[in-house]
Amino acid sequence: MERTFVMVKPDGVQRGLVGEIISRFEAKGLKLAAARIEALPAERVVEQYSEHMEKPFFQGLKAYIMSGPCFLMAWEGKDAVAVVRRMVGATNPAEAAPGSIRGDFGLDIGRNVIHASDSRESAARELGIHFAPGELVEYSRIDEPVIYE
Ligand code: RTP
Ligand code: MG
Repeated sequence: MERTFVMVKPDGVQRGLVGEIISRFEAKGLKLAAARIEALPAERVVEQYSEHMEKPFFQGLKAYIMSGPCFLMAWEGKDAVAVVRRMVGATNPAEAAPGSIRGDFGLDIGRNVIHASDSRESAARELGIHFAPGELVEYSRIDEPVIYE
């Protein structure tokens, strides 16, 4: 089983998309291990997106992520990192496949609704930035025997 870090960005929170997004991951069979609404401090935004610090869009990205509260989640399941990235869709919502979250709910690369970790290493790193180990809840979902072979 894998865990991945997912975050509804401030545009998604303001547009009331948190419930819709949680529903998609729940219906897929993934298990929610942690969740919190929070206005992120600058240090954690920079740490989260440190790979992009030298990019021309970084200041705009930082301002966007700090423009309002985000909704932070940990999701768990088989191949959770790759499965969630596919459900999130391509970075540019204008090109993201219909049926993906960005494909269904966005138009602009600078307002792309949601973040998800891009590898198992990123997931471990990002979960560590935003959640204390004790915040990740371990439990069984009653439908696991019919979701997994
Ligand atoms: P994320 O990290 O937020 O899940 O997005 P991603 O992996 O699909 O894309 P990434 O390359 O990591 O870019 C991080 C976020 O920066 C913003 N961005 N703006 N204006 C631009 O050209 C541009 N490129 C990227 C987006 O918010 C993107 O999600
Ligand atoms: Mg990324």
